[in-house]
Amino acid sequence: MAKLVRGFRDIFEPQSNQFTQLENCARGVFSTYGFGELRLPTVELKELFVKSTGETTDIVQKEMYAFEDAGHRQLAIRPEGTPGVVRAYLENNFVQNAPVQKFYYIGNMFRAERPQAGRYREFEQIGAEYIGNSAPAADAEVILMLKDIVAQFGAKNYVVKINSLGCDKCRPLYRQALIDFLSKEKDTLCENCQTRLEKNPLRVLDCKIDGARFAGRVPTLQLCPECQGHFDTVQALLKGKIDFIVDPMLVRGLDYYSRTVFEFQAGDVSQNAIAAGGRYDSLIKNMGGPATPAIGWAMGAERVILARGEQPAQPRKSVCVVSLEKPCNETAFNIMQELRAAGIRTEGGLFDKNVKGQMKQADRCHASYALILGGDELAKQAATLKDLTTGEQKHIPFAELITEVKKVL
Ligand code: HAM
Repeated sequence: MAKLVRGFRDIFEPQSNQFTQLENCARGVFSTYGFGELRLPTVELKELFVKSTGETTDIVQKEMYAFEDAGHRQLAIRPEGTPGVVRAYLENNFVQNAPVQKFYYIGNMFRAERPQAGRYREFEQIGAEYIGNSAPAADAEVILMLKDIVAQFGAKNYVVKINSLGCDKCRPLYRQALIDFLSKEKDTLCENCQTRLEKNPLRVLDCKIDGARFAGRVPTLQLCPECQGHFDTVQALLKGKIDFIVDPMLVRGLDYYSRTVFEFQAGDVSQNAIAAGGRYDSLIKNMGGPATPAIGWAMGAERVILARGEQPAQPRKSVCVVSLEKPCNETAFNIMQELRAAGIRTEGGLFDKNVKGQMKQADRCHASYALILGGDELAKQAATLKDLTTGEQKHIPFAELITEVKKVL
């Protein structure tokens, strides 16, 4: 039998409804903040991610689904959305025409990580990118927008951590201080961190194995006055509107960040970052555009849903149309379509089955009413509406069907 690929999933109802609910919630909030949807392709040139996500990141080194197509192009199935947004922004000349852009995207991302609860090889990200605004207000705006979506959806029990990674002026000094500090402990580092030490020492702080034991001991970043001022203003704007913790160990796993970075972390979700993001003021320039500031985030839909927890089942009211004999099938079918056109959730149509089979189906699809049509009904131009909970039934003329069914559902 055909089998599902490890790390991938089929998502059925009612679980799939939770995704729709989260997406609708996000779309509503995005619209109040003036963000517009950008639909991106799933496949990009591999080079795009190597250059932007970062050559030394786990995503590019170990997790990317990359392949060569028949035209010998080196392609990748997107592991994240930000590089594609920046490519689309540059390629479509927003720089010239409308440099300030607020995009959001909803789509599946792919990373060949080791699957576990809350970590999948195909997962949904809902993300936002605010391009062209360097003001601290943009940082506060996107963080509060994220909070609004998560809160409206009903996920609680998470903490918001923020940090500043400085800029090209202050970070190199910090980088060197980190290398000096970590070199003394090199022998005790995990294999991965030994390599990271030279190439990307900040990432050691983020390591699941080594990170925690350096908390409070590693040198901290001394921000330049501009970065400090920016970070202070972001915090002042957030104060009173959202609870947050400044965590100097928060460094993020992608290369393009500068200044503000943040994560929403849920305590009881095994992969705890439910959403994360930050500024990337150098990325657009590094990708061939003019220096353009930007900030954004992405949330993992699965993780936000997990963080909200079990939801009580929402019974959906529907009517199931049952035909008692062959000559009634066509009228029964037409009634089904009329009910649907009136916006009524309508089941039925299993007219090859006998009455018992059709009633069983009504039960299986949790219909609350059956609308039964037999020879008598056809002659009287009325159908029998049966309440499947109480067993009560009444005759309803065809002309009044829609009004009567709407009344009871
Ligand atoms: P990221 O931290 O790599 O950032 O991913 C963002 C979120 O996607 C994570 O916080 C997590 O909720 C979810 N996620 C990541 N990997 C998985 C997985 N394997 N399974 C389930 N969920 C996962 C980015 O992708 C950046 N593009 C965010 C950003 C936008 N920064 C600036 N703009």
